Amino acid sequence: MSTDSTFSTLTVMMDGPRGDIRLNRPDKLNAISDTMLHELVEAAHFCDARSEIKVVVISGAGRSFSAGADVTMIDAPVESTSAARSLTQRRHPTAEAGSQMADAIEGMEAVTVCQLHGHCVGGGAVLASACDIRVAAEGTVFSIPELFLGIPLAWGGIPRLVRDVGAAKTKELVMTGRRFGAAEAAAAGLVNRVVPEERLEEEVRLLVDSLLDKSMFTLGATKRYVNAVAEHMVDLKRAWNDAHSLEAALRDPESRAARISYLERFRTDHQRSD
Ligand code: COA
Repeated sequence: MSTDSTFSTLTVMMDGPRGDIRLNRPDKLNAISDTMLHELVEAAHFCDARSEIKVVVISGAGRSFSAGADVTMIDAPVESTSAARSLTQRRHPTAEAGSQMADAIEGMEAVTVCQLHGHCVGGGAVLASACDIRVAAEGTVFSIPELFLGIPLAWGGIPRLVRDVGAAKTKELVMTGRRFGAAEAAAAGLVNRVVPEERLEEEVRLLVDSLLDKSMFTLGATKRYVNAVAEHMVDLKRAWNDAHSLEAALRDPESRAARISYLERFRTDHQRSD
């Protein structure tokens, strides 16, 4: 087993044909910061550069897979200051970086297995849906709370969810932002398999072993074929609209009020002064 130590928000490990990318901000429930978005792209390239890696497991350290986008990146401009105006006049960097992250993970050469536990929120669910196979612990709680934050679901999340769970379910989950459990996620098609909490790592290991039995060529050919067919069904390029609607939401007064109120509640709950 070797660990690459160039990443600050991830632990990236290699053990022969198995790679591991572990989100590693456990004190923040692996909230996905700008740095983590960029490092996920780098980690995908790191694994792609090592042709011996057949399967990569993507997981989260600590008590959750991921609490979604780091809310400090989404923080609301309070008044229409020049800084706020410049934020709304350019393409939102997080929307771009989020889509690039999801595309890089989805485009990886290796088969990706997402190991889910604890909370899987918003951008964390986008990351999971960019993986080929998803295994969740029974207690995993999913939610897509972006609309509470007064922003649309970006990062290419909408077309991926439509592909995985269908249009009506996507609308319901995103528009309500309600929490749902692993059983519902499996029934909807967002996860492949639900396993007892204490068996999660072992079940993922068994799944990985069953994949490692197969040739890289046939795994890769199957992945590319399925992705090509799925892309034909739901064009992921439709995510182009992400950055524009995020910018528009930042300018929309009602959305901005929702965002300020959500972030104030979040800060109060965590007694933040920043
Ligand atoms: N961004 C930044 N920090 C986050 C975070 C996020 N999305 N989610 C959690 N954290 C931090 C908390 O601030 C807290 O840090 P602190 O101890 O330094 O204050 C730590 O992670 C633990 O979070 P906490 O809320 O105490 O855990 P919990 O188990 O009570 O609640 C959640 C878990 C996921 C329900 C809750 O953290 C939450 O709602 N997070 C925000 C989710 C969100 O809005 N994501 C963005 C949308 S994509």
